[in-house]
Amino acid sequence: MKLHVNVDHVATLRQARGTRYPDPVWAASLVELAGADGITVHLREDRRHIQDRDVRVLRQSVRGVLNLEMAATDEMVKIAREVRADVVTLVPEKREERTTEGGLDVVGARAAIGKAIEALVGDGIPVSLFIDPSEEAIQASKELGAPRVELHTGDYCEKLHAVQHGPGDEELARLHRAATRGRELGLHVAAGHGLDYDNVGAVSAIREITELNIGHAIVARAVLVGMERAVREMREAIDRGRSGRDE
Ligand code: PXP
Repeated sequence: MKLHVNVDHVATLRQARGTRYPDPVWAASLVELAGADGITVHLREDRRHIQDRDVRVLRQSVRGVLNLEMAATDEMVKIAREVRADVVTLVPEKREERTTEGGLDVVGARAAIGKAIEALVGDGIPVSLFIDPSEEAIQASKELGAPRVELHTGDYCEKLHAVQHGPGDEELARLHRAATRGRELGLHVAAGHGLDYDNVGAVSAIREITELNIGHAIVARAVLVGMERAVREMREAIDRGRSGRDE
């Protein structure tokens, strides 16, 4: 299972004071030294955390995979092609939201998403679509020509939280079904959003999912125990889940 760490919230801390620190580029280096497979950043249209400079410098410094999350707009497509991100993950974006709230509307926003996929994939940049774990969304992603999907784990995490660390079985089964369908269609299947040290194990056990994108929980823990340990402990939690040692 690949682990990509989202360092947006290091930039959130920097933007809170308009300082030059903490630098998400430094954080990304520590994340990679701790054994993560890649770095994920979301360049939002309002530039609330990650800045254009961060993406450009990360392009120079990241040794593993640089995954750029962005909205399917002409401006963002231009940036992704200029910096040559290794992977682009298209996400829905609303200015008033605190974080990405749901998966892409692969049916309603079909035209914009299709246009972005065509430009990026045509230019040799693989595109992943951040979608809800539903059969329709998987099918629509395939039809749009995306080689990858990232399944939104937010509902699973929220339900689990609501029942105080109960099973969240239904959402887990949904994730499993969607991942299986994705693999049947030949898609690369990732997952992410809201994953933490307690809930990551069950998702890691789904063999069809081969990559996780995790941000907030790791950065929050890093504030207290340091980035190296925060990444290592997440890696261990993933490996425990994957090997069935969680039960
Ligand atoms: N994947 C996607 C597509 C996201 O938008 C985000 C949040 O930026 C994440 C994963 C990471 O979510 P979290 O910060 O809750 O781990």
